[in-house]
Amino acid sequence: MGNPVFISRPIPEKALSLLRSECDIDMWPDAGTPPPLRDRAVEAEGILTYGHEPIDDDLMKHAKTLKVVSVIGVGYDHVDVKAATRRGIAVGHTPGTLDDTVADFTMGLIIAVARNVVAGDAFVRTGMWKSFNPNFMWGSDVDHATLGILGMGNIGSAIARRARAFDMRIIYHNRTRRPEYERLFGAVYAPLPSLLAESDFIVIQAPLTDETHHLIGEDEFSLMKKSAFLINTARGPIVDSQALRRALQDGAIAGAALDVYDPEPPSQDDPLLEMKNVVLCPHLGSATIQTRTKMAVMAAENLLAGLRNQPLPYGVNCNPNA
Ligand code: DGY
Repeated sequence: MGNPVFISRPIPEKALSLLRSECDIDMWPDAGTPPPLRDRAVEAEGILTYGHEPIDDDLMKHAKTLKVVSVIGVGYDHVDVKAATRRGIAVGHTPGTLDDTVADFTMGLIIAVARNVVAGDAFVRTGMWKSFNPNFMWGSDVDHATLGILGMGNIGSAIARRARAFDMRIIYHNRTRRPEYERLFGAVYAPLPSLLAESDFIVIQAPLTDETHHLIGEDEFSLMKKSAFLINTARGPIVDSQALRRALQDGAIAGAALDVYDPEPPSQDDPLLEMKNVVLCPHLGSATIQTRTKMAVMAAENLLAGLRNQPLPYGVNCNPNA
């Protein structure tokens, strides 16, 4: 018998095979439905979590044998790390591996929303296209536009690198200034209000913390250009969702491209689903075969280290068991 572990959604075989010899694996088989995390955590020494279901103090209290929580993802806002540390539970995540993949996707969303890629696709598919029309679906130029990056970490800087090839003017806001990115990409640091007022495209790439929760609300939308687009590939609750819906409905901004939501997923009667000036994706930022496989392998390595009472290679807290 190996160490009992719960895997909250199916993971690639390459990662699973790392675990087989040491673990007694209970893997939730259905990728599309939420796993019964709390029930299945009770018996587990390790949880490999693929998704964003909360792993809070109450769940950890309930899971008496739990030694390690390994997140397949860079963001771990759904895990109460303080409580885990207090309870001697190691927490790991998968930083670095998805930066380029999320940056590619973010550029894709910028182009999709600015150039009517999704609306154009629907127009053709639904048989509405009768002849070439030079006077419709005019978008906005991405090249030479001003890109405001909110959160200049690994992913933010990977977006800046790509934006340079589009001859974009890059401004950024971050907790600390990043002189290396200013040098490399010509990015200019700006206080948040100036970034919001000057940008044609505002990309959110900050982690979700108490400080960034609802960082973008009514007041912030009122500073943006009416022609601006908001792109969120980080976490939904960084934006006040009611304020976002109002800004889009009232024309306070031109549009948005969203990969993350609050709540996530949005309900079927969410007005966002009816808005023509919005591109919506189901949290696909890091979803490529290569990247999701690498992430799962990193997370499996974290899990094994935690089960062996070793320091996690990609640990979040201070390896309380080591
Ligand atoms: C991440 O890496 O944080 C993505 O949102 C997938 O969980």
